Amino acid sequence: MTIFNLGSINADLVYRVPHLPAPGETLAATGFTRGLGGKGANMSVAAARAGARCVHIGAVGGDGVWALDRLTEYGVDTRQIAKSDEATGHAIIAVDEAGENAIILHPGANAALKKVGLINALAEAQAGDFFLTQNETTLQAEGARMAQAKGLRVAYAAAPFEADAVQAVLPFLDLLVLNAVEAAQLEDATEKSVADLSVKDIVVTLGADGCRWYETEEKTVQDFPAFKVDPVDTTGAGDTFTGYLIAGLDRGMPMEQAIRLASKAGALMVTRLGTADVIPDLKDVQDASFN
Ligand code: RIB
Repeated sequence: MTIFNLGSINADLVYRVPHLPAPGETLAATGFTRGLGGKGANMSVAAARAGARCVHIGAVGGDGVWALDRLTEYGVDTRQIAKSDEATGHAIIAVDEAGENAIILHPGANAALKKVGLINALAEAQAGDFFLTQNETTLQAEGARMAQAKGLRVAYAAAPFEADAVQAVLPFLDLLVLNAVEAAQLEDATEKSVADLSVKDIVVTLGADGCRWYETEEKTVQDFPAFKVDPVDTTGAGDTFTGYLIAGLDRGMPMEQAIRLASKAGALMVTRLGTADVIPDLKDVQDASFN
């Protein structure tokens, strides 16, 4: 089947810093790289590297031809990426010595998507395909509604968290992926525990503590341990997890197996500096061994 991913495409400007800057502080970087990123693009690359057919729905500016070239090189179908009058989105990312990050986003073309592009892209979709989205573009709720109406399985990564945006897509979701902070924010916003939401499958990632899967129809909860790694850069690890998770489910894996594969891919990603350009392929993930 196919994964249709409505998502952001960014130029990631990554600065290695001794610590994350404090308010008012001027800090010299010890390293700099420029690469492909955006939560959406990262998930598309992860899904493609996991062996899935992934159609990315999004937009870049006239300055974004390089991003299309890289997505194509990484195996993502770019035919449904529009050319916008806005500049390609970018992210300024500081990464400290412990691998933690702070990110400033400039949405650019990601905030200028047109509904007609979404309609054209989903015209290719068939019942049983996946629709995936996050929160760095416009049209998520519209896309989720259209995808559900066509019989697609609808998945959403609630990042960056924005309470109204998340609640607008909730009625259409089959699968929700979020981290512990986002889960707490969603519980505050809905005044419900995650386990009581009307979404069949909910996966809460817990960083070094692994993740938790809630199957809300059967009312089961299952914990999965994390693979232990020395972190170099946590940027994009969650996106890699989600892309691999959806790719695994798209290939027909049971949820437990897809979560284990995604956890391994996310762990390997944490050992690499950068985002989409360094997302591991399936062979790297299968060959990886952790202590
Ligand atoms: O999740 C990491 C991503 O967040 C980066 O690639 C950056 O572009 C921002 O979207």
